Amino acid sequence: MRIILDTDPGVDDALAIMYLAAQEDAEIVAVGSVHGNVSAPLAARNALRVMELCGLTAPVAVGAARPLAQPLQTAEFVHGVDGLGGHAGPEPSGTVVSESAAEQLVRLARAHPGELTLLALGPLTNIALAVLLEPDLPKLLRSVVVMGGAVTVPGNITPYADANFFHDPEAADLVLGAGFPDMTLVGLDATEQARAGGEWLTAVGALDSPRAVFANRLLDHYAGFYSQMFGTHTCTLHDPLAAALLLEPKLATYREMPLAIELSGTHTRGQVVSDQRLIASDAYIATTAGAGRVPVKVAETVDVPRFLEHMFEALKAH
Ligand code: BDR
Ligand code: CA
Repeated sequence: MRIILDTDPGVDDALAIMYLAAQEDAEIVAVGSVHGNVSAPLAARNALRVMELCGLTAPVAVGAARPLAQPLQTAEFVHGVDGLGGHAGPEPSGTVVSESAAEQLVRLARAHPGELTLLALGPLTNIALAVLLEPDLPKLLRSVVVMGGAVTVPGNITPYADANFFHDPEAADLVLGAGFPDMTLVGLDATEQARAGGEWLTAVGALDSPRAVFANRLLDHYAGFYSQMFGTHTCTLHDPLAAALLLEPKLATYREMPLAIELSGTHTRGQVVSDQRLIASDAYIATTAGAGRVPVKVAETVDVPRFLEHMFEALKAH
């Protein structure tokens, strides 16, 4: 599978890159950074750092510096001031390319129609900009997997929204309504099941591959945040689960539904809205959320033991 990765590393983004690096059937063709967990330029340098550790070479383009319609907000309180739990270390040896992440995505999609899969692990600003640059983008990509949103469960950054969609609600709404014919949403509905517990974290702590040693430093910081929140030694592997479902969709079950984003709610901005009424679609009595949009596959139930096993194997790889 040939993948364009859009990401805001971020500890769990970094772990997703490590996961992808260990998969023989995954080739990262290009990377775009985006504002989100940290600034877009820092996210690009962090992507390079992790890729270099894993022996991956692919062009990294800096993406959108801020959301479409609101001020920049970052999440160092979760991921550390450097986005990698304080363990970013020296500058990467590689440098970023000169085009923007949205331009890179459009250029590659046009050059390889129907061949490339997009994995979006941060706010969807770059993808929205790419759709504005090339309205045929949905037809040019093979498939899209997005980590973001909370369809039937509470949010994380607010009671209603996950961090990725909250950090750019307009972009998320534009992308969900753009008509991508094969889009999977890996939201908190699925990722909140993908929690690494104390036993798994201890087992990963005993691994000695360079990527596991690095992953452990990051996980120590990240699990510190989650453990305080949940009162037990744990952390949630959001982005690694999205990467795993991209390569192994059968690790989860899915339900298809059209989706939209709440853009004006006083308390609910960034929330995913969908019509959850269990009635036949032609019996709807009022306008339904997301009506007329192409349905999205929403990940529901995850085979968590198998996912954690695959993640463990990926970190073990030298
Ligand atoms: C998402 O928000 C970010 O903090 C994580 O990297 C993940 O992509 C989870 O809501
Ligand atoms: Ca992310």
